[in-house]
Amino acid sequence: MRNYYIAGNWKMNKTPSEGAAFVKELAPKVAGAKVKVLVAPSFAALQAVGDALKGTNVLLGAQNMAAEESGAHTGEVSPAMLKDLGVKVVILGHSERRAIYGETDQLINKKVKLALAQGFEVILCVGETLPERESGKAVSVTLGQLSAGLKDVQAEEMKNIVIAYEPVWAIGTGKTATPQDADDMHKEIRQNIGSLYGPPAAEAVVIQYGGSVKPDNAKELLSMPNIDGALVGGASLKVSDFEAIVKAV
Ligand code: 13P
Repeated sequence: MRNYYIAGNWKMNKTPSEGAAFVKELAPKVAGAKVKVLVAPSFAALQAVGDALKGTNVLLGAQNMAAEESGAHTGEVSPAMLKDLGVKVVILGHSERRAIYGETDQLINKKVKLALAQGFEVILCVGETLPERESGKAVSVTLGQLSAGLKDVQAEEMKNIVIAYEPVWAIGTGKTATPQDADDMHKEIRQNIGSLYGPPAAEAVVIQYGGSVKPDNAKELLSMPNIDGALVGGASLKVSDFEAIVKAV
């Protein structure tokens, strides 16, 4: 039985003190939730937010991670640094990393393998752009990113992989995939994982939907059979909205 999983990706928002104040308000409101809850602040806010989350059921995630363990990589943050801060989960392959910072499937795959080897849970983001959807390539692009991101990942490591389907055209635009469209893609992703790793892995893998998830559409999306959670951007920045999404499950 898959557990629902609601994650907030704060992107480049909230200073350390704002982040700490936010989670102090949020944590008691979601304390009784049966779902898994995560917040992913910026690197700069991880320490403050992590300290504020101690003793709560809210997990701490990072929005990215270096592809190397250490060394001459100016501006990068290593797995050991994240672990030391209490980070348990890393989001990799977000479309903003792909589109704005040129991260390739190959680089993302390197990060995925390193993160798994270092004991992190990975939220691997995949999803098509609007031109790709309009030209009928949504499934092939998304599954291409999926198999490239998971290249050489072993079946026993799949328990630490979560997939986030985030159609790029739905991110920050207010346009959400219809629950049926999202569920159709989640089903494709699940089947693909089944063909790569076998039916038990397909049945077990948690697939989050991301792209303009809001309190007023969360329930409908989360009631679909293949949608196991949400990766929330804008609505994760307001306590009442994020709380409502957690409670929509
Ligand atoms: P929005 O919820 O703001 O559309 O962002 C989605 C997202 O990119 C989460 O990673």
